Amino acid sequence: MSKRRAKWVVGNWKMNGRLAENEALLQALASGGEAYSDVHIGVCVPTPYLAQAESLLKGAMVAWGVQDISAHPQGAYTGEVSAEMAVDFGATLAIVGHSERRAYHAESSELVAVKAQRALQAGLTPIVCVGETLEERESGATQDIVGAQLDAVLARLAEHELARIIVAYEPVWAIGTGKSATAAEAQEVHAFLRARLVAKSAAIADVPLLYGGSVKPENAEALFGQADIDGGLIGGASLKSLDFLAICAAAQAVSSAR
Ligand code: 13P
Repeated sequence: MSKRRAKWVVGNWKMNGRLAENEALLQALASGGEAYSDVHIGVCVPTPYLAQAESLLKGAMVAWGVQDISAHPQGAYTGEVSAEMAVDFGATLAIVGHSERRAYHAESSELVAVKAQRALQAGLTPIVCVGETLEERESGATQDIVGAQLDAVLARLAEHELARIIVAYEPVWAIGTGKSATAAEAQEVHAFLRARLVAKSAAIADVPLLYGGSVKPENAEALFGQADIDGGLIGGASLKSLDFLAICAAAQAVSSAR
């Protein structure tokens, strides 16, 4: 069985959720997730709720993690949270380089690569996000942009580290807009990213490539059915248990059909 047969469905809650509503959502995922044994399910919660995620998801089929980590292991970095701190609360996933962090916190691709390496050193799986803006797409620069974002990570990490990352293609114009890339548009970029990985080393051909940007129950199966799309990174729809579980069901349907 290819390592890539099982799909990934990871929620990115962004800066949403409060204790009471999280409890209902996490409980629904803990019980509902059991049905999807061919899917790697995860949620990346706001850092203050890591302990809540740990207590409600422990023993369930749902992993949890953070949406960013510091590039530093520890020290005088006011406001930052280290990868090791997330690990203390059972986290296994860390999103790095989300477009919202690149745009609002001026994170460079080099910094994102450092964060990916820090995550790995702490034992977390980094989900490295890449993606182009609408202007970049319209000017024909999509491959240049996502290629350069991926190259920064390929340049910094050793092959054994690269073998443990996940990459998420998230076109900025599709995030939170309701306007997903079509399955064919997403597949085209994923095939490009896959080729870029293989050009670096055949040993990293199976790095999971997730698509993110307005994934919903209605479009998930078509997206996940593409040859180089190994699952999704889900924003808005991850805040509603029924929608998120329906996306997991779509992933399961595609995984078991392979
Ligand atoms: P939406 O699913 O809300 O478009 O967000 C995608 C995203 O940014 C996930 O990281």
